[in-house]
Amino acid sequence: MTTRREPIFRMRGGSKSFSGNCVVDGVNLEIFANEIIGIAGENGAGKSTTLKMIAGIHPPNTGEMELFGKPFKPVRYTQAVEAGISMVFQEQALIPSLCVYENVFLSLESNFTNRLAIVDRHAMIAHTERHMKDLGLAHIDPRRRTRDYAFHDRQMIEIAKAFALAEYFHVDHPIILLDEPTAAIGEREVALLFESIRRFRARASFVLITHRLSEYIELCDRIYVFKDGRNVGEFAGERISEQNLHMAMVGRVRDEEYFKEKRQRNVTEAPIALSVKGLGGENVKSVSLDVRKGEIVGLGGLVGCGKEAVGRAVVGFDPFPAAGTVEVNGKVLPVRARGKAAIANGVGFVPKERKTEGIVPYMSVEANISLASLPLVSRLTGIISAARERSLAEKHVNGLRIRCSGPTQLCQFLSGGNQQKVVLAKWLARGVQILVLDNPTRGVDVGAKEEIYAVLRDLTDQGAAILLISDDLLELIGLANRILVMRGGEIQFERDAPANDKPTEQELVRHMV
Ligand SMILES: Nc1ncnc2c1ncn2[C@@H]1O[C@H](COP(=O)(O)OP(=O)(O)OP(=O)(O)O)[C@@H](O)[C@H]1O
Ligand SMILES: [Mg+2]
Repeated sequence: MTTRREPIFRMRGGSKSFSGNCVVDGVNLEIFANEIIGIAGENGAGKSTTLKMIAGIHPPNTGEMELFGKPFKPVRYTQAVEAGISMVFQEQALIPSLCVYENVFLSLESNFTNRLAIVDRHAMIAHTERHMKDLGLAHIDPRRRTRDYAFHDRQMIEIAKAFALAEYFHVDHPIILLDEPTAAIGEREVALLFESIRRFRARASFVLITHRLSEYIELCDRIYVFKDGRNVGEFAGERISEQNLHMAMVGRVRDEEYFKEKRQRNVTEAPIALSVKGLGGENVKSVSLDVRKGEIVGLGGLVGCGKEAVGRAVVGFDPFPAAGTVEVNGKVLPVRARGKAAIANGVGFVPKERKTEGIVPYMSVEANISLASLPLVSRLTGIISAARERSLAEKHVNGLRIRCSGPTQLCQFLSGGNQQKVVLAKWLARGVQILVLDNPTRGVDVGAKEEIYAVLRDLTDQGAAILLISDDLLELIGLANRILVMRGGEIQFERDAPANDKPTEQELVRHMV
């Protein structure tokens, strides 16, 4: 007799509201053993919230869940973990100052006491060591501090922790939820992570969220597409393609217009707005570049090649042991207090780490947007005008289609991609003429990316100069007038990229490695 394979997890009609605002609406979802599924959707579609419902962090308002054939109603994360579900968070949850083994068994120490009721560290270390070995992570020493490990290894520690806890709670086949695990790592780390997941799937199931459609295609057996909090499609096998996913997410076919290449301007005659000469420092050797008005200059290279450091030095974000000069419209910025001078001279910066550097999470959307433009929203007395702040915010919330319950919502409750749009809005509100963008569309969905690209084209139409630093090669190729590739802190390669003669990814990669 053959029996139909039953899912190990099921959600039926799962819904979640925050203060009356329904963000996940009647979602059905199944996970089978050894399966890797994906949840795709635009920013704010309810992907992270759905994972949090499964993980007991935001229990659903209505709907039912079943795990291993039994009703499953976690109201705390620890209950989900005990039942075999672990989540690797978009922003990591390990405590950097603790040793690896302490993070793995955090809050379970009392279960490792010996006869004298003293915590048995040796047992915890031995357990952790065994799991690391089993998972092919023998290079991770349980006794070392977690902060000694790079982001990628910390991710592996989180996944190892999921397996260790599952075993501890006698769960044979854990379900591991990964919310944008690839958002902050480079191509090589992504390859390592995926290789590990493929290995681990013999013993677990995975749910993946990412904003790179190619990653779903590479890794997932089955993909759910969410739109406005609902499932709008499910794809498996041959039906998984970028075209199909994109269309289900955005509701239109992806076209060559994506990067608005026809709108790229001819700038050879335009005056130079930003000029960097002989920039040097710890990871940067003698970098010089010019950006003309109306031009987008793309700066590419592998993670660690020094491209981020160039961006941060230009805007004076890091105290930089700067050899070299930065000129804005022919005026040399002072080395000291370059950050202030950059802002005063109309330079805006969108950093990579939006959570810690780009927004103030406990402030509202409108306060964040007006943050760099206080003179614009203040009365003559210097007091902020609430009405001006509101109207400035509303203009940009609409213009960038920032999804929030209103301008007064706190930024910390926005989805990742919408936080990124707030950072951009902050500088647009100020009307900057020079923008340094470090991975401006990281964590931003394909639909919103297209909108941001259109905004960048609008800005260049108005004569803005943009230095675009990106890990996304297609984005660099599509957007930039000129592309510079860095390796080992130096510019290795430079190429014009007019709309009718764009380089291929392969051509650029050759100069990156
Ligand atoms: N704790 C919360 N309080 C209020 N609103 C919230 C909260 N968490 C999420 N939301 C709202 O729910 C909606 C869905 O958010 P969610 O984080 O699930 O989106 P997402 O699909 O993961 O998006 P992204 O791709 O940008 O990460 C958003 O509009 C968000 O503002
Ligand atoms: Mg999310």
